[in-house]
Amino acid sequence: MKICGIFLQLLVLVVIFFHGMVSSSSSYDGPLVLNFYKETCPLVQQIVRRNVEIAVLKDPRMAASLLRLHFHDCFVTGCDGSVLLDDSGSIVSEKQAGPNVNSLRGFEIIDRIKYILEEACPQTVSCADILALAARDAVVLRGGPSWDIYLGRRDSMKAGFNGANNFLPAPNSSLEALIASFQKQGLDASDLVALSGGHTMGEARCLSFRQRIYEDNADKYDHRDQEQLIYRRRAAGRVFRRALRSICPKSGRDEALAPLDSMTPARFDNHYFHSIIRGEGLLHSDNVLVREDYAEGEIRKHVWAYANDQELFFAAFVNSMLKMGSINVLTGGQGEIRSNCRFINS
Ligand code: HEM
Ligand SMILES: *[C@@H]1O[C@H](CO)[C@@H](O)[C@H](O)[C@H]1NC(C)=O
Repeated sequence: MKICGIFLQLLVLVVIFFHGMVSSSSSYDGPLVLNFYKETCPLVQQIVRRNVEIAVLKDPRMAASLLRLHFHDCFVTGCDGSVLLDDSGSIVSEKQAGPNVNSLRGFEIIDRIKYILEEACPQTVSCADILALAARDAVVLRGGPSWDIYLGRRDSMKAGFNGANNFLPAPNSSLEALIASFQKQGLDASDLVALSGGHTMGEARCLSFRQRIYEDNADKYDHRDQEQLIYRRRAAGRVFRRALRSICPKSGRDEALAPLDSMTPARFDNHYFHSIIRGEGLLHSDNVLVREDYAEGEIRKHVWAYANDQELFFAAFVNSMLKMGSINVLTGGQGEIRSNCRFINS
């Protein structure tokens, strides 16, 4: 009886071990590694998670803000902490670029985590890795999937102000522009749909969605494959836009906020996809994902699949986050480990 129990436990361990091997080797193959700080900073993951928890308890929206920070880092000169740099010397901060100014949040949280990590293990953990870990922890805290983070990114010694203006997609982008923007980062159309699912939490300013709620042809993206539902959807779209117009007038109140996923703004789930199918995406760039006249519905197909199956969305999101998190990373002797995320080491 006892031997049988031990044997069973062994079997379970072996299964877990091989399962782990298979899932990690199939999803990522690059210069980053799991357990990068195992010897040099064994508590790094606990320290980041604890501080993200505290930050999100104080300010629930911070979960969304931290996820977005990692995205905006990775799309500009790669996941290298460049987004965190302030103006100084020859550095022109990305924080003042159009997509970031008066919009990106969470810098103080990253500062706080960096400060604690410098006490625990000086000059060891990169700011870029902190962003990747914090983004994952933020998703988990709001009910999303968890995944292992590959580590070993190093920090850039320059910022990309022009890159931030050129490479971060605008909320009024066409579907073609969004696809091109992701392609430049080595991400494909399915990554675009999965990662847009990040808009399942957080908020946008009136400035970002005004054009969409006042445009004349706002019904253009209502889909038409079920003719009898068109009228109902258009009516719903009108109600949705009217509600948003009360938050966001034609002029003024630029900073007024509305949730990106109006169904469950505080949860990481697949309701974002339900919303955009109903034509209730907040941004123009959300709604174009259900356009039917593009590549025979290639993009929409993913939207419908994620709307129907949350686990499928979670798996796709994790897969695409791994890809996004490894864009143009600096490793080995490249870059540096900043001691303050806002400045390069002198
Ligand atoms: C597909 C192209 C994308 C466009 C055009 C876009 C655009 C935007 C805009 C305009 C905002 C609101 C900013 C403001 O008004 O202050 C926003 C917020 C947000 N975005 Fe995106 N985004 C895109 C992709 C992504 C991706 C890939 C992620 C992460 C995986 C992401 C995560 C977020 C989050 C979480 C927020 C809310 C932030 C907060 O509440 O602080 N977005 N996005
Ligand atoms: C998007 O908005 C910007 C700034 O409001 C504007 O300059 C640009 O022309 C718009 N682009 C499209 C495609 O509407």
